[in-house]
Amino acid sequence: MSIFRTKNLDTMVADSRSPGGLKKVLGPTDLIFMGIGAIVGTGIFVLTGTGAVTAGPALTLSFVVAALACCFAAMCYAEFASTVPVAGSIYTYSYATLGEIVAWMIGWDLLLEYGLATSAVSVGWSGYFQSLLSGFGLGLPTVLTAAPGALPGVETWFNLPALVIMLVLTTLLSWGVRESARLNNILVVIKVSVVLLFIVVGAKHVQPANWQPFMPFGVSGVMSAAALVFFAFIGFDAVTSAAEEVKRPERDLPIGIIGSLVICAVLYVVVAAIMTGIVPYQKFLGIDHPVSLALQYAGENWFAGFVDLGAILGMTTVILVMAYGQTRVLYAMSRDGLLPKRLSSINPKYGTPYFATWTVGIIFGVIAAFVPLGVLAELINIGTLAAFCLVSVAVIVLRKKRPDLHRAFRCPGVPLVPILAIVFCFALMTFLSKTTWIAFGIWLVLGLVIYFGYARRRALLHPGNAPA
Ligand code: ALA
Repeated sequence: MSIFRTKNLDTMVADSRSPGGLKKVLGPTDLIFMGIGAIVGTGIFVLTGTGAVTAGPALTLSFVVAALACCFAAMCYAEFASTVPVAGSIYTYSYATLGEIVAWMIGWDLLLEYGLATSAVSVGWSGYFQSLLSGFGLGLPTVLTAAPGALPGVETWFNLPALVIMLVLTTLLSWGVRESARLNNILVVIKVSVVLLFIVVGAKHVQPANWQPFMPFGVSGVMSAAALVFFAFIGFDAVTSAAEEVKRPERDLPIGIIGSLVICAVLYVVVAAIMTGIVPYQKFLGIDHPVSLALQYAGENWFAGFVDLGAILGMTTVILVMAYGQTRVLYAMSRDGLLPKRLSSINPKYGTPYFATWTVGIIFGVIAAFVPLGVLAELINIGTLAAFCLVSVAVIVLRKKRPDLHRAFRCPGVPLVPILAIVFCFALMTFLSKTTWIAFGIWLVLGLVIYFGYARRRALLHPGNAPA
């Protein structure tokens, strides 16, 4: 059936291993830094507020559950990335294994992950930016501070800082300013230092009484918060996009992916414990800068300012990496003929996919300006969780279809670990709201309509369409 046609895996593997490709310079430490660079952002600096209101002090457990789901999925990612180390993330892997329609749906789904994540992180960025401004006694007119409906009972038109940061970063990306490993490493050091600073300064102000009752909303509160703060871990898959530049992918990729996840999980659990230990969890209702709020609450205003600044810098790299990842996926899909050709055109002056970059910047900038963060985060989570389920299925399928293939890293315990990934991810999906499921359903149906109405006939693999 033509909708399940696949790209030739052996050709892709051979191409990725042919000499003369990208320089293999990255080691495990670079990859761990890259992972942390893409992971630590809005999830910890913003969503922990809502998470605390949903789970109470048991937010720490929510982070553990979300981390487990990610760890199982990360092993599956690592197997793919080390077997077929090519750009385009799981969209490309699935085109070679599960067939075109699945690849299309994953690519379509990744728009929810990478694309909407840029919007969501911009909204988080805006919250901290405004908190920093207020520290200097400055402020924007209220109507320009948030999306309509984001602040109950307050009239707001749109989120100006979120739109502006998206457009500024789009300009940088379109000029070809790539997140160089060095800049990324510096920003990662700053952002991790800020988190550690919070831990050291905050620990002194913890009142254990605030941890009682520990689980005020029971298991369902813990799981609902886990489904939300799962967002905090999104981004580790960005490590796989560096697969072609890694010295020893079989060893370094799993270390990079799993190492960055474990470090972030430990940081998150400790931050959640301290935050809910300083501030009674009910007080986080409607707060979009919970980490610095905890320090303000403790009277450490000076350190709170530092946290604001670190959060702003940290979130900037997340937006950059996510926007960059999004343009890569659009580029790969367009190159395969599934999306309009313009999206893979390269600007001769800047050497970047200019049109794709601005398409991403404008669309997701406008979304950031007009849609509240909570709605965005849930949609991103459902899209990403679905993609994680598919990548886990793909590992099992590929083991059956191509047992002969050389796998530099083998996911341990197949099929148990991929099945656990599917079970955990699906369980988290069931705790997302009905509205999110409906929106996700509409998104998938729209994807199918475009596939059958447009992409299938335009694909390069379609008979009669000459390869580029
Ligand atoms: N994990 C990223 C963040 O929390 C998307 O900002």
